[in-house]
Amino acid sequence: LIGDIKDGRSTPVGKTIARILLEQESGQSLEAGYKPPGPPGSDKCKADTCCIWAHLSTELTAAFRGPSGRCNKFARAAVRLGFHDAGAWSQVLANNGQDFGGADGSIALSRGEMSRPENNGLQDIVARARIWQKAFGVGMGDLIQFAAQHAVVSCPLGPRIRTFVGRKDSSKEAPQGLLPDVNDSADNLIKLFEDKTISPHDLVALLGAHTTSEQFFVDSTRKGAPQDGTPGVWDTLFYNQTLGTGPLPKQVLRFPSDIVLSADPRTADEWQSFSGSGGQSHWNEDYSYSYIRLSMLGVNNINNLTECTKVLP
Ligand code: HEM
Repeated sequence: LIGDIKDGRSTPVGKTIARILLEQESGQSLEAGYKPPGPPGSDKCKADTCCIWAHLSTELTAAFRGPSGRCNKFARAAVRLGFHDAGAWSQVLANNGQDFGGADGSIALSRGEMSRPENNGLQDIVARARIWQKAFGVGMGDLIQFAAQHAVVSCPLGPRIRTFVGRKDSSKEAPQGLLPDVNDSADNLIKLFEDKTISPHDLVALLGAHTTSEQFFVDSTRKGAPQDGTPGVWDTLFYNQTLGTGPLPKQVLRFPSDIVLSADPRTADEWQSFSGSGGQSHWNEDYSYSYIRLSMLGVNNINNLTECTKVLP
């Protein structure tokens, strides 16, 4: 376990999140149908934590769906932004007095994080996040994670991941060197994620996010090249095509990091299980557990969060 629930789960929400992180309770939910009790800024809306998120959700639905019903470039960037904010956190550093970074909004609130090369390509979605934060008056750390989960369910086949709000924001830059490099070895990548409490199997589930992705900077002569044949759809084709089983569409560019992790003995079994029959529901369930874990890194008030899954589309 992580954050404040490591020492004690004092509230119902703390107990729920602990059970999700321990994979004893599902990280997906179909709880829906919430109607905001009033417009943004009204007393009725202010009295209900989830109300403002329902209004933001309406805006995000319009922003994330393309004309064909697939999720678009803003949705893809929102998923990556969720990872790049939350993922810049380390258990070893936290144990040594540097418990900062994580899902605290610092990628958009600090002066320096957005000029780091690994965050290249996230400028447009960060600009949007700043506009949404001003318009809706919510926390940036929450907004970034809410948008990442909203983006996933905006993609066809994407899971409806349980969503929690109430994180504390920080404008302090996250520690350097905690995000992965596309040319790193499987060993280093697995170690980097284990230091975020993310197991090799969790990592394989999270990497499936490359099912929707396109690249611009790995090979700048092939800007927009996707990582599977169906970008904008949350399917498991990415796992098959990274393995190289079956024909690979010409436009697909496979990341070296994905290839080494698809073959490493610590991750290959899970990779194959997502690519096989029944892979979609297995992956959706595992992605949900693993993403909720990622979205809680550096969060030390988990016992005080509020679940707002009911506002998702
Ligand atoms: C070993 C770990 C990972 C590596 C090395 C990696 C690397 C990359 C690289 C190089 C890009 C392309 C950037 C560009 O050239 O424009 C990319 C895109 C992307 N990544 Fe990852 N990534 C990793 C893990 C993750 C995780 C854990 C998530 C989310 C849970 C994620 C979500 C995405 C998404 C959605 C995009 C597409 C962004 C877009 O289309 O605008 N990645 N990643």
